[in-house]
Amino acid sequence: MISFEESIATAVAATGTFKKEEVIPLLSIPQETTHGNFSLPCFALAKTLRKAPKIIAEEIASQIVLPLGLSKVEPVNGYLNFFIDRDFLAQSVLEAVAATQLSYGHFAPNNKTVVIDYSSPNIGKELAFHHLRSTMIGNSLARIYKAAGYRVERVNHLGDWGTAFGKLIVMYLREDRKTDPATLDSLTVKELNILYSSFSKASKEEPELEDAARAAFSKLETGDVFYRTLWLAFRAATLKELMRIYNMMGVSFDHYTGESFYEPLMPAVIEELQQKNLMTHSQERDVVMLDEFNLGPCLIRKSDGSTLYATRDLAAAIYRKKEFNFDKCLYVVDLGQSLHFKQVFHVLEKMGREWYTDMYHIPFGVILNQSEDGKWEKGKTRTGTASLLRDVIEAASEKILTFIDEKNPELENKAAVATQIGISALTFNDLKNRRLMDVKFDWDSALSFEGATGPYVQNAHVRLCSIMRKAGYTVNVADVDWKILTDDYSYELIKVLSRKGDRIRQACEIDEPSVLAQYALEIAEAAHRYIHNDRVLGSPEEKARLFLVQSTQVVLENVLDLLGLFPIRAM
Ligand code: ARG
Repeated sequence: MISFEESIATAVAATGTFKKEEVIPLLSIPQETTHGNFSLPCFALAKTLRKAPKIIAEEIASQIVLPLGLSKVEPVNGYLNFFIDRDFLAQSVLEAVAATQLSYGHFAPNNKTVVIDYSSPNIGKELAFHHLRSTMIGNSLARIYKAAGYRVERVNHLGDWGTAFGKLIVMYLREDRKTDPATLDSLTVKELNILYSSFSKASKEEPELEDAARAAFSKLETGDVFYRTLWLAFRAATLKELMRIYNMMGVSFDHYTGESFYEPLMPAVIEELQQKNLMTHSQERDVVMLDEFNLGPCLIRKSDGSTLYATRDLAAAIYRKKEFNFDKCLYVVDLGQSLHFKQVFHVLEKMGREWYTDMYHIPFGVILNQSEDGKWEKGKTRTGTASLLRDVIEAASEKILTFIDEKNPELENKAAVATQIGISALTFNDLKNRRLMDVKFDWDSALSFEGATGPYVQNAHVRLCSIMRKAGYTVNVADVDWKILTDDYSYELIKVLSRKGDRIRQACEIDEPSVLAQYALEIAEAAHRYIHNDRVLGSPEEKARLFLVQSTQVVLENVLDLLGLFPIRAM
């Protein structure tokens, strides 16, 4: 599609006043429709041309040759107001939608690769509600980058290695549990969760359990076969439940390369650090000092030889660069790990890996729940008070199902639809604001069908689909009379649709799914207004109007998809 900004800039520059590249940043979109679609202030030229801005605007207006698609230009008090030809806009936008369908506004492949590390939960524990954030922000970013032309490698860096496994092993054996294959096979993550909290409790009374856990992990690290069998069983039990939840949420990955995957790659990292003289022995640990960056030392290896979280991230980064030759590597991990990523990136810098500048920590705020006295506070997993993600999803789905039972009890597959609306509601609540903001979670506002919510945008999509179903036919682009789509409601909606590519680009540039969440709201609002004011079915304008409904539906469907929301067709 042509960009109106581009063609206005070219036409203005041809009058010998502004330079082309000066125009685009000055153009603004006026609030009032009566001021046109774009406004160009001429004040910046007053000094160089030694004329009043008002005169300059009038002179440009009298000389300019209007480009195709613009109907007029009006000089008003030093501004030039440009008006787009409404039927030209309708035609150029909707023809492009018809030609490209769901990929309208997407970008051609740019030959760049982005690795996105998201969700990455710790094995042995159930997904807590707060895990939703990394999972859904990462899932949406993966879709957005793909739409923006990148090759995307989606990585789940499972926390499947470390002392936590020593704790589980110690507790499992202490409770004298069976270790035959059938029992290990039927282990559930729920049991592991209980095991984990009993360890925490028991170790308060018997601190020596912590040493036992460290020793057990060391044994695991050195390849003890029995311990390894237990570890594999713990891992499998957690993965089974993880996959069930990911499937339900529509989330997937290209690689499940957890921390354990990097175990064999660790010696090479340590050797390189030693060779480059970067490792220092301090307080019984091997560390890389980062004083020059005003950061504390990065811990590489404990006194018993076991490696640490940071060591595994160093190995992972080096592996990813080699394997995928990425242009960008994103870590969608909560704000609390900022220091960790700064340290890892700087150690890579010191190792001489110039690509350390292509690594980005994409932090986000926490989920806050309201306590009984009305205070907003962070949910806590360790003490077991945080809600489990599956419980929250279940509760959300149940609430929506009650609603469907009231309004549309005959709906097909209503339980499945309710789950999809429930998950989408939780997702939208998470994505609607800038990711660094904490998310206040409140049932009523997240699940409402009014306001800035998932159900609200899904409902707009449902209404569009229902008009198409009732019509019973689809309109071909060649049969549309564009003049019909020039009233204010159609025009406002088409303007919104035309911004899709720009929003994808923006969301990708600042790694913000919220840009698209806000865009989904804009489409939903403009669509609701259009449907409300321009009667589609049974009107003399039916064909053209139905075509706009079809076009809006595909644009909205894809925007929902880019956010990781389910584009429901009936509710
Ligand atoms: N497993 C970690 C946690 O739950 C997150 C891992 C993030 N990714 C990474 N490459 N460090 O806190």
